[in-house]
Amino acid sequence: MKKRERAILNAHITGVGKYLPEKVLDNKYFESIVETSDEWIRTRTGIVERRKLEEGGTSILATRAIENLMKNTGLKAEEIDVIIVATVTPDMLFPSTACLVQDNLGATNAWGFDLSGACSGFLFALQTGANLVESGLYKKVVVVGADKMSSIVDYTDRTTCVIFGDGAGAVLLEPTTDLSLGIQDSILHCDGSGRDALNMKAGGSLNPSSHETIDKRWHYIYQDGQKVFKVAVKGMADVSAEIMQRNELTSDDIAYLVPHQANLRIIDATARRMGISDKQVMINIDKYGNTTAATIPLCIADYYEDKKLKKGDKLILAAFGAGYTWGSLYLNWSLD
Ligand code: UT7
Repeated sequence: MKKRERAILNAHITGVGKYLPEKVLDNKYFESIVETSDEWIRTRTGIVERRKLEEGGTSILATRAIENLMKNTGLKAEEIDVIIVATVTPDMLFPSTACLVQDNLGATNAWGFDLSGACSGFLFALQTGANLVESGLYKKVVVVGADKMSSIVDYTDRTTCVIFGDGAGAVLLEPTTDLSLGIQDSILHCDGSGRDALNMKAGGSLNPSSHETIDKRWHYIYQDGQKVFKVAVKGMADVSAEIMQRNELTSDDIAYLVPHQANLRIIDATARRMGISDKQVMINIDKYGNTTAATIPLCIADYYEDKKLKKGDKLILAAFGAGYTWGSLYLNWSLD
């Protein structure tokens, strides 16, 4: 049964926030450190520049994004019930980044946790946060996607270093009895048989840090780009078409596709499959690159800031990432 049919409360987004570190790495910079070109990066990925956090960990990115959300909405730290941090670059394995963010904010009444879903992390966290709100137990749940990808990028590997960037985006979820607003449906998947195509092998319990893991460069991102590209195109397009179909949405109904920003060519393929036009697709990969869990909330924050969203707009969020993980989520926007 679809969630919409059983809900008495819906979770909806009542505020957004974002943070991008100031330091910009443009494509020219990469020309100076690896054998690449601005032309290759633009045409193969759509990326023009990305950001880098020079000091501190992901908790700083997440904290700043939530502070921006608090400024935008008037939300007070002590009003926050739950903080969910979607990330693959936690400050450390434990305590969770959510604990560090809670302390930074002085969110004295909050509990929270990290969620590891790679590039689909924000989608997984948004659905999880919505379930907490719809349970009736929690009224103000902050969901933040934050990644300091520069901390795990191998700057000698041209196939990955040009792609990733640092950033964070946050949303506030609150309950509404207007079931036409907020999160309507989601289709989420994971398939660990993709573990070898995209990973960071060391630092966990399987391959604890050692001289050997450092020598083998296992503390950096490894990606088989072509392999991931093929499954990402199919995975993201299939799940976006499926959520439209089962909610009886046509391309004209959709205000925006909000896709994970990994590669402009994957985004274009998804949009084509959904039958939507370029202007119905949120894009900011040119400015920030692939910020993993942060891409989707950063898109939403940018477009909201630019007044391109209006109440009632139907959004389809879609992502594909390491694991593999992938999914789509359909929501009706609540803010003007
Ligand atoms: O967000 C999580 C999920 N990740 C994704 O969705 C990423 C999916 N993959 C991709 O986006 C693309 O596969 C990449 C952007 C990573 C690579 O683009 P590609 O068009 O698939 O390139 P490729 O791997 O097929 O490589 C084509 C050529 C190769 O050279 P040869 O063997 O043809 O001589 C690469 O060595 O491009 C070369 N190449 C580069 N050349 C210049 C790879 N990286 C670079 C580079 N600059 N940075």
